[in-house]
Amino acid sequence: MPPEQPLVEINEAVRSYGRGAGAITALGSLDLRLHRGEFVVIVGPSGSGKSTLLRLVSGFEHTTSGTVALDGRPPVPGRDVGVVFQQPRLFPWRTVNGNLDAALRWAGVRRQDRPARRAELLERVGLAEVGDRHVWEISGGQQQRVAIARALAGRPSLLLLDEPFAALDALTRERLQEDLRSLTDGAEQGAVFVTHSVDEAVFLATRVIVLSDRPGQVTLDLPVPLPRTGCSADELRGSAEFARLRGEVSTAVRDTLNIPV
Ligand SMILES: Nc1ncnc2c1ncn2[C@@H]1O[C@H](COP(=O)(O)OP(=O)(O)O)[C@@H](O)[C@H]1O
Ligand SMILES: [Mg+2]
Repeated sequence: MPPEQPLVEINEAVRSYGRGAGAITALGSLDLRLHRGEFVVIVGPSGSGKSTLLRLVSGFEHTTSGTVALDGRPPVPGRDVGVVFQQPRLFPWRTVNGNLDAALRWAGVRRQDRPARRAELLERVGLAEVGDRHVWEISGGQQQRVAIARALAGRPSLLLLDEPFAALDALTRERLQEDLRSLTDGAEQGAVFVTHSVDEAVFLATRVIVLSDRPGQVTLDLPVPLPRTGCSADELRGSAEFARLRGEVSTAVRDTLNIPV
């Protein structure tokens, strides 16, 4: 049997901005393969090229050299990939349903099929009750849930999340982590999630990648063999295995920042 084709395959990807003496190499050279079902979390210092990497994978930007492939092809921006940013970036004048309708229309879902798909998406992100509310009537955490639902609207093969919980208070952030962990559990798709939080990384990931300071390169690629089901969030966060993994990631992050231990 041929080996399974990676969902994402990045080969010697370099991304530079500008030309000549003023050019900045934001990323690379980077090699990365991501397989179906993986939830990859990327941790790295500011400016290490994390957002650049996500833009390359989404197809919104191109490599300066090297290649990025999704399912063996160059990614088509806005079609193959669902993206969630730090700010929800919803249409503020629309209701939650209106925001999801716009995403479903964009994804080519027929008008008569949209209400059922909308309900399914809201259910999936734990927001069954708020479809008729306006964006300003719901909390920041709920807005970010809508942003996740919107990213899932086109049934993308890959979900990209760029520090999506960084602006939320600690308790809301933990709830969202728990829900994101279970809603992507067993998903056919993969996810790439960027964060500064080592705890968040170990909690969510099936694999953590630490990037070095600019230009970003992989300094740690660590499988996270924590159970995805049958274990409460508190048990997980309190487990010895969680502490061990957190320690390993923290050390790698500190090394990239050259902070003495
Ligand atoms: N469009 C751009 N033009 C010029 N420089 C950029 C651009 N985008 C990013 N950079 C630079 O590339 C580096 C990596 O940026 P970024 O990917 O945003 O890092 P991170 O998300 O890890 O903080 C930074 O030094 C940043 O200033
Ligand atoms: Mg960034």
